[in-house]
Amino acid sequence: LTIYRSDYTPPSYLVETVELGFDLDPARTVVANRMTVRRNPDSAQREIELYGEDIELVALRLNGRLLEERDYAINGNLLTIPNAPEEATLEIETVCVPEQNTTLSGLYTSNGNFFTQCEAEGFRRITYFPDRPDVMAKYTVMLRADKERYPVLLSNGNLLEEGELGDGRHYAKWEDPFKKPSYLFALVAARLVCQEETFRLADGRDALLQVWVEEGNLDKTDYAMQSLKNSIRWDEERYGLELDLDRFMIVATSDFNMGAMENKGLNIFNIKFVLANPRVATDIDFQGIEAVVAHEYFHNWTGNRVTCRDWFQLSLKEGLTVFRDQEFTADMIGTSTGRAVTRIDQVHTLRQAQFPEDAGPMAHPVRPDSFVEINNFYTVTVYEKGAEVVRMYQTLLGVEGFRKGMDLYFERHDGQAVTCDDFRQAMADANGRDLTQFERWYDQAGTPQLRFEACYDEGAQTYGITFYQSCPPTPGQPEKKPFHIPVAIGLLDREGNDMPLVIDGEECGTTAVLELTQAEQTFVFSNVKEQPVPSVLRDFSAPVILQHGYSDSDLLHLFSFDADPVNRWEAGQRLAMGRLLKLTGEAPVSSRLSLDDTFIEAMRRMLTDESLDPAFREQALLLPTETMIAEQLDTVDPLAVHMARQFMRANIGARLRSELLAQYEANQTPGPYSPDAQSAGKRALKNLALSYLNAAPDEETIALALRQCQNADNMTDRAASLSALIHARAPQAQAELERFYEEFQGEALVVDKWFAMQAAAPTTDIAKIRELMRHPAFNLRNPNRARSLVATYCMSNPVEFHAPNGSGYLFWAEHVTLLDALNPQVAARLARAMDRWRRYTPALQQHMKTALQQVAGQQRLSNDVREIVTKALAN
Ligand code: ARG
Ligand code: ZN
Repeated sequence: LTIYRSDYTPPSYLVETVELGFDLDPARTVVANRMTVRRNPDSAQREIELYGEDIELVALRLNGRLLEERDYAINGNLLTIPNAPEEATLEIETVCVPEQNTTLSGLYTSNGNFFTQCEAEGFRRITYFPDRPDVMAKYTVMLRADKERYPVLLSNGNLLEEGELGDGRHYAKWEDPFKKPSYLFALVAARLVCQEETFRLADGRDALLQVWVEEGNLDKTDYAMQSLKNSIRWDEERYGLELDLDRFMIVATSDFNMGAMENKGLNIFNIKFVLANPRVATDIDFQGIEAVVAHEYFHNWTGNRVTCRDWFQLSLKEGLTVFRDQEFTADMIGTSTGRAVTRIDQVHTLRQAQFPEDAGPMAHPVRPDSFVEINNFYTVTVYEKGAEVVRMYQTLLGVEGFRKGMDLYFERHDGQAVTCDDFRQAMADANGRDLTQFERWYDQAGTPQLRFEACYDEGAQTYGITFYQSCPPTPGQPEKKPFHIPVAIGLLDREGNDMPLVIDGEECGTTAVLELTQAEQTFVFSNVKEQPVPSVLRDFSAPVILQHGYSDSDLLHLFSFDADPVNRWEAGQRLAMGRLLKLTGEAPVSSRLSLDDTFIEAMRRMLTDESLDPAFREQALLLPTETMIAEQLDTVDPLAVHMARQFMRANIGARLRSELLAQYEANQTPGPYSPDAQSAGKRALKNLALSYLNAAPDEETIALALRQCQNADNMTDRAASLSALIHARAPQAQAELERFYEEFQGEALVVDKWFAMQAAAPTTDIAKIRELMRHPAFNLRNPNRARSLVATYCMSNPVEFHAPNGSGYLFWAEHVTLLDALNPQVAARLARAMDRWRRYTPALQQHMKTALQQVAGQQRLSNDVREIVTKALAN
């Protein structure tokens, strides 16, 4: 059943207050829900509409009267009560079975503890409710549970009272002073311990901050706590937004479908984004924790105080909150190259994941028009492209103008459930701008393509540049209208310096933001003294594909001199991509591939340029991924792509050997480990050098990796060197893998890495994967573990996954089906591994189609997986 955005109608009844009582028992939890409701004057509908899923209805009372079956109707998940009065008190008693809830949506147990996940539609798995985000109510929650087993009882807001109940049970009563939609409800009943701290807020109030984890993990909570404090400070300073509660809690669970959840005052996290110390977590893990803690905290304003009217508006809170966490991360690093390095990471994610999504069967606008299962739309498009759309407001309006828009947005909408249009209107009104055309970023799917032609007139000293934009068709959207695109541009002179820019007699510094609104548009720069090299789309000012016509020498000029680090990096990527595409074409036929000196020399200069941050040099030396190369091809032969890229890596490893060895030594980080950006950048460059050296392995490079593996005092270096040994097919790799497991078998997150490292190795074939699945530590029910092995194999080991006999695809079909019976959300994510099936060679396509049909043909399939495979087969 497809749901359409255009079908939105306001709720028939509004909920004023909700009192929830929980008698928590893993095998049978009784939920008593008393709510006061009143007719919504904005609705023409007269029935009360409540949703419920997988719960047993015990009793339903309206104003104290027990309703009989003829007084209401249940149709699937919808319960309707006709002839209801204007105002009423509803009392609903239901039962659920948390220990059997493997979907991890609603109320479930993990390691014997109770957790909830209600976004998007999990609250209906707890009680009957108008479970839609535009119904906002005040909640009071009474939790009752065995005290010995569940000493900690938490819910949203403030703790009102707690005490004993006799026969070993105890209770806690919580009240959330703010109105909220049901998807922000949460409870935790568990045996946990916490790190806590009182933190002084900008207005002088003190707030209690807590990070709750299982016993034995208190040595891994410091970074999350520090990140939380930094986030609170940053939102005060950058946006004038304060913590509005006396207490803010983060709770970590090992079983979680996504990264984390912003429940009011009680954020629940996947342990992956809480637990870290140098022994078990890598630099990337530390970065992830800082970003996700910030993201969930920032939701308190962008998501909770102002929420979404309906789920089509998801990007209203997600795109905006991702943008906010991105800006936070950039500010935390502080330096300008640091900012650029984070920006490059963002561009990398877009290209690796969002552009392919936008070009495939699941392509959808940032604000989708329809869906079957909303959980399938927590996507890189809604999140990351959504963040790019928010960033474009800031590029168009300036940082101050954007802040004015944010202030107006809160002034108008605090306490409301609103739409992406409301946000755009606030941005427009606060700045006296017309942003009508900008709506197309919300309603047209697909990645716009941009092309330019330039002409230098020496006599007139003018430089004219004409842009052409278009956007390919996507499912359901054959034609696209032009977007409003901010294009940041600079002009480099022969020396590589930025020229001062003059357009229409106006001086605009060295980077101008051109506003494209038409399919074809020309801009003329004057006082241009010589033929420039244009640096287009600086700082990646719009999420578009720039089809450049640069010559190699233009690219080398930009790669050497561009003042914009993002475009400097970009030029290197383009130099590499051109060669990778050529090599990919040659790989299946030629036995002797080769790489030109020009490219190698450019890489050598980059590698050894000590004036540049190691973090930046690492990014500049990293080649486009196999996925990115595949996106450039009409027909993908994954083996050819892999061979081409491997050849290039090995060639760099061999020809830059002495420089790589020197950088390996120069970027050591002696002394105690610190996750700061400088040190992490050095480790990244050092470990990239190690990986290049071992792309052309010999005894010396393997000895280097082995030494690092045996002496590393932190997980970043340990994991990087182990991975280098595996990829080099070093004889010592197996023993090191075993030693790694022995040492870390008690650390779930490290065991995940151990599985993932093997799943991603081109040396791991399907037989090996199946063997790993029988390992005692493997467990399909735990999402992190399932992803570490199954999803990593299907999504990050292209050569093996795309084995010519189709064995990878059958494995995929088998596990999508198995997982679907346990956890449809996790299954549906895995299902997306087939998104691009139509681009592979005919033989592979045939195998992929068979696998897709095998899944689609299953009798019992969730909406989640059905939507994904149906769309894949149809488009
Ligand atoms: N709102 C959460 C976040 O962005 C994501 C939760 C989504 N969960 C889900 N089951 N769809 O951080
Ligand atoms: Zn979010």
